[in-house]
Amino acid sequence: MTKRFSLEGQVAVVTGASRGLGFEMAKAIAESGAKVWMTARGVDQLEDSAARLRAEGHEVATRAFDLADGAACVAAIRDIGAAEGGRLDILVNNAGINAWEPLAQATTATWDRVIGTNVRAPYLLCREAARLMAPRGYGRIVNIGSALAVVGRENVTAYVSSKHGLAGMTRAMAAEMGSKGITVNMMAPGYFLTEINTTILARPGYEKGVSSRIPLGRWGDPEEAGGVVAFMVSKASGYMNGHVLTVDGGLTETFVLPVDAA
Ligand SMILES: NC(=O)c1ccc[n+]([C@@H]2O[C@H](COP(=O)([O-])OP(=O)(O)OC[C@H]3O[C@@H](n4cnc5c(N)ncnc54)[C@H](OP(=O)(O)O)[C@@H]3O)[C@@H](O)[C@H]2O)c1
Repeated sequence: MTKRFSLEGQVAVVTGASRGLGFEMAKAIAESGAKVWMTARGVDQLEDSAARLRAEGHEVATRAFDLADGAACVAAIRDIGAAEGGRLDILVNNAGINAWEPLAQATTATWDRVIGTNVRAPYLLCREAARLMAPRGYGRIVNIGSALAVVGRENVTAYVSSKHGLAGMTRAMAAEMGSKGITVNMMAPGYFLTEINTTILARPGYEKGVSSRIPLGRWGDPEEAGGVVAFMVSKASGYMNGHVLTVDGGLTETFVLPVDAA
């Protein structure tokens, strides 16, 4: 590995690292040499996933907490910082939830839950991370958005709002923290085969229908999210700041219609 992609000696936090895209991000960051703190709510899956990475020779630690609990978010970053002698180089705010609800049936509780998990929690984690990073003059923060941070779609108003909000937060923090050596960017995934899509994948023909709109003609493999984020948290991405990088097979950058509808 060339040095510009190396994360040797660095400390990273990846939320939602027990499965799906977050696990692949944690793996890719650990493969580049960083110690990775993996977080999620479910302790068993988190420990199993950490054990998998340790078995591959990587240095990982775990912290189980619920992003809905603001005090737990603050405590997690402060405790990790203390355990690492004040060092935190990388924060990846990956964990997120979706909720399918037509607007007419939508509840305030769903709105609060989605915004709380997808926007409020990353805000608190970024704030606490910045307090550790700024005195050292270096940091890489990557917030995980969605293609729905860039475009809208039906029946997921809370989710679309949360990811657009997270994109705005990313840009605001990039503007403020750049002078302190901290970059803040967003990686915006398209359609990947993970648990978050269980609801839509159960719909007949959905997987194929989505593929027909994507120039690459397929859903993403979670591994393909890991490498991009490992680049975004490396020194190699040093002049990238406030950017929303879509990783979606070309979905949001092109206008592909199914052949029979074209
Ligand atoms: N997969 C896609 O197609 C896709 C597309 C666009 C955007 N994204 C975004 O990519 C990110 C990862 O998605 P994914 O598909 O990998 O999801 P996933 O497979 O459902 O995994 C979500 C992860 O977040 C953790 N998590 C969820 N709620 C949490 C909470 N309240 N507190 C703490 N941890 C929590 C989960 O662990 P526990 O349940 O144990 O807490 C799990 O580790 C999300 O932000 C999602 O919006 C995904």
